[in-house]
Amino acid sequence: MKLAPSLLACDFTRLGEELARIGSADWAHVDVMDGLFVPNISFGLPILAAARRASALPMDVHLMIERPERYLRDFAEAGADSLTVHVEATPHVHRAVGMIRELGRRAGVTLNPGTPLEAVRPVLPDVDLVLVMSVNPGFGGQRFIPGSVERVRTLRRWLDEIGSAADVQVDGGVTAHNARALADAGATVLVAGSSVFGPDGPEAGLARLREALA
Ligand code: DX5
Ligand code: ZN
Repeated sequence: MKLAPSLLACDFTRLGEELARIGSADWAHVDVMDGLFVPNISFGLPILAAARRASALPMDVHLMIERPERYLRDFAEAGADSLTVHVEATPHVHRAVGMIRELGRRAGVTLNPGTPLEAVRPVLPDVDLVLVMSVNPGFGGQRFIPGSVERVRTLRRWLDEIGSAADVQVDGGVTAHNARALADAGATVLVAGSSVFGPDGPEAGLARLREALA
């Protein structure tokens, strides 16, 4: 299981230190919000570039922006190792994931909790990662939607059926309480914001998740 702490929950005044403290994680998850696709604005290219300079972790960029194909090249150049686009944000999802692969980055597709899984099925042969949103995107610290576990199981089965080894990632409300169930359902990457960057620090948050998965 790979763990990907979400930088959205870290202390931005200490970005470099926060990244150093999650050095034992597998990826850093970078949430980009445009105030249109989701009702919040987070941060963009300069913050990704700064994180890239400060850390050797792979940068896993989750684009919550309308028509993400407009900015894929910029995010790749700013240091993204994987780029994930929402199926609801573009009428041309095959084109978007194709562009990501042409840029030499891992291509991810994701969908909101209210979007039927069938929406991503046609593009599964063309992605390296499928992200199951387990909250409605836009904010950290929301409650996990329980039906997400079954969505992970179904997607894992569909990927197995086509012989794909793509990662199944889960994002939103992930804690030590649901990590085990997600792993059992076939998740291979867990994103966690508030449960990692908690009051007792990210080292303790990561240790709690690892312990729940052991
Ligand atoms: C939600 C973001 C998540 C968020 C997760 O829109 O995509 O990555 O930061 O935060 P927690 O783990 O607190 O739900
Ligand atoms: Zn995210």
